[in-house]
Amino acid sequence: MLSFRAFLAELKEELSSPELDLSTLDRLRAKYLGRNGLVNKSFDSISPDEKKAVGPEFNQTKKHIEDLLEDKRLRLLEQSDTAEFFDVTRSGTSFPKGSLHLVTYAVEEITKIFERIGFIRMSYPEVEWEYNDFEALNMPKGHPARDDFETFFVEAEEDPQLGKMILSPHTSSGQIREMLRVKTPPMRMINIAKCYRPNWDVSHVPMFHQFEGFVIDKDINITHLKGTINYFAKEFFGEKREIRLRPYHFQFTEPSFEVDITCGVCGGTGFLSSPSSRGSQKGSHLGENDNKIKCKLCKSGWLELGGSGMIHPNVLRAGSIDPAVYSGWAFGIGVERTFMMKEGLKLDDIRTLYSGDIRFLQQF
Ligand code: PHE
Repeated sequence: MLSFRAFLAELKEELSSPELDLSTLDRLRAKYLGRNGLVNKSFDSISPDEKKAVGPEFNQTKKHIEDLLEDKRLRLLEQSDTAEFFDVTRSGTSFPKGSLHLVTYAVEEITKIFERIGFIRMSYPEVEWEYNDFEALNMPKGHPARDDFETFFVEAEEDPQLGKMILSPHTSSGQIREMLRVKTPPMRMINIAKCYRPNWDVSHVPMFHQFEGFVIDKDINITHLKGTINYFAKEFFGEKREIRLRPYHFQFTEPSFEVDITCGVCGGTGFLSSPSSRGSQKGSHLGENDNKIKCKLCKSGWLELGGSGMIHPNVLRAGSIDPAVYSGWAFGIGVERTFMMKEGLKLDDIRTLYSGDIRFLQQF
C-alpha cells in the first residue's frame, strides 16, 4: 500500500524548518517530484492494477506537493526582498535617554566658575544643629532675626550645647564648619547645598539650593567681595551684566549688602523699547520715560541675586578665628533663582522645576 500521505507529512515537516532557503527548496523539489524522486519511484514500483487504483491519488499528491513548494518559494522571495531593501530615508528608532536635572547643570557650572579662581567646593550637612545655623552666626535664641529663616525642626534628641536638629534653612552654617575644619586662614570656599524653608508658592519651594562664597585671610575687604561677585556674574550671565551692592542687614555680616544684577530682559534700563518711544516729541511735556513700557520682570532695571557682607567679628570668634588679625566676607545666593534669570526661562511657577514632569525636563 502506497503512502502518499506520509510523503506530504514529511515534506511539510521539512518546509517548516527555519533554515530553509531557496536552494534547499530546489533540492526538496528533486527529492519528491524528480524523475527519480520519492513519489515517482514508489509509483513505478507497484503493479499495473494497483497503479490504476491509486492513479488519482498519485496525481493529487503531486499537485499538492507542487503547491506547497510554490507557496513556500513565494514566501521566501518576499522575505528576502524585505531583507535586502533598506530605506535610508526612514527616520531611525530613538532610544530613550536620560539627562541631568537643570539644577544639577547649574550647580556644576557654578562650581567650575569658582574653582577657576581657587575656591574649594564643599557640601555641608542639610540636617544641621540649630547652633551652627543661628547662635554661631550671631543670632542668639529669641533673636527676631531667626524668624527670617523659618525652619523645619527634626524630631531628634536635643544637644545641650548645639540645640535642636533642623533642616538647614541656609548655607551659612557651612561658614562655621569650614572655619573649624581649616582652622588657619587663608580660606576660600564655595558651599553648594540644599536648603529648606516651609514655603510653597509660585516663587518658593520648601527645598531649594544656595551657593555660599566665603573667604577669610589677612586684609580682606569689600572690594574683594565685589570683585568676586562681579567675576561670577560676567562668567555665568555674560559680559553685559553689571552688579551692585545695596546696603542691607544681616546679623552675621557687618556691613551687609544685597547683591543686585542688571535685568537681562530690559538690559538694566527698567523699560522695554516701544515704537512710540522712538523719535523726539517736540514741544511735549512728557518726561523721557513716560511713554515707554515698564519691564515686567524687574520693574527697575535690577534683579535681586542674594545677600552678602563682611563676616561679623562674633562669627569669626565662633569659628576660633581672631578678628584682630583676619577679616573675611561671605555671600549666599539661590541656585534656582539665579539659573532662571540666566536662561531667561519664563517660568511662571518655580515649582515646575520639581514637579517631576518629564515633559518639562525633556525640553532642555
Ligand atoms: N544666608 C543668607 C540668606 O539665606 C544670605 C547671606 C549669606 C547673607 C552670606 C550674607 C552673607 O538669606
